[in-house]
Amino acid sequence: MEAKDRIVLALDVDTAEEALLLVKKLSKHVGVFKIGMQLYNGIGPDIINRVHDLGGKVFLDLKLHDIPNTVASAARVLTRLSTFMFNIHAAGGREMMKQAAQASQEQADSLGVKRPLLLAVTVLTSISQKELTEDMFINGLTVEELVVKWALMAQESGLGGVVCSPQEIRPIRSSCGPDFKIVTPGIRPLWSAANDQKRITTPRQALDQGADFLVIGRPIVKADDPVAAANRIIEELEAE
Ligand code: C5P
Repeated sequence: MEAKDRIVLALDVDTAEEALLLVKKLSKHVGVFKIGMQLYNGIGPDIINRVHDLGGKVFLDLKLHDIPNTVASAARVLTRLSTFMFNIHAAGGREMMKQAAQASQEQADSLGVKRPLLLAVTVLTSISQKELTEDMFINGLTVEELVVKWALMAQESGLGGVVCSPQEIRPIRSSCGPDFKIVTPGIRPLWSAANDQKRITTPRQALDQGADFLVIGRPIVKADDPVAAANRIIEELEAE
């Protein structure tokens, strides 16, 4: 995979105009555009087609979590929308993940297309060990142990990868093997501001630890020259 294809640009904006301006500017410099709840719920699914029309691939970050039948039905729809990847919560359970993977595969087969990369969200990085035990009543496991267990469950259920924090890249890579895709946010080049991200890693460190895709927003979007920022990240990823 080329370095550029590993960069997933977070389109964390409210309007189609702002999003499409970024896509136009950056579609030759990043591999994928991430559409999250803000943009999708604000302007609807047509934004996916509009990104496609400009030559961009889409990671639809809606984090589905519901009963298996409902998530499987949504997975069929998101497969018909030709997303490159989308995600569901591992906390929805094994059966939910299995049915979603199967439904997406069946839909892709009937359309004669490749199935989108289906990713599991494990433990949200905003959840601390304290919240895990005191509020979610999950005892006897560290966050990292739970993340790895859920990553393995996602893999056994037929999902293609996970979204995780940079801290968890290595343990997931060693448990789930080389083909399981790892997508990580919390990426900050040394030359950019950390903003509200706390446990950060550089693009190069994330790659060296075994990540496949790097979700990057503000270091590119808020740079004085977003194209130059994306190119600088590509150079760092390609450096020997
Ligand atoms: O601007 P920045 O590079 O921090 O954007 C990172 C993107 O990744 C945002 O869309 C953010 O919601 C998302 N994300 C994150 N940390 C997580 C999960 C998702 O930063 N743990």
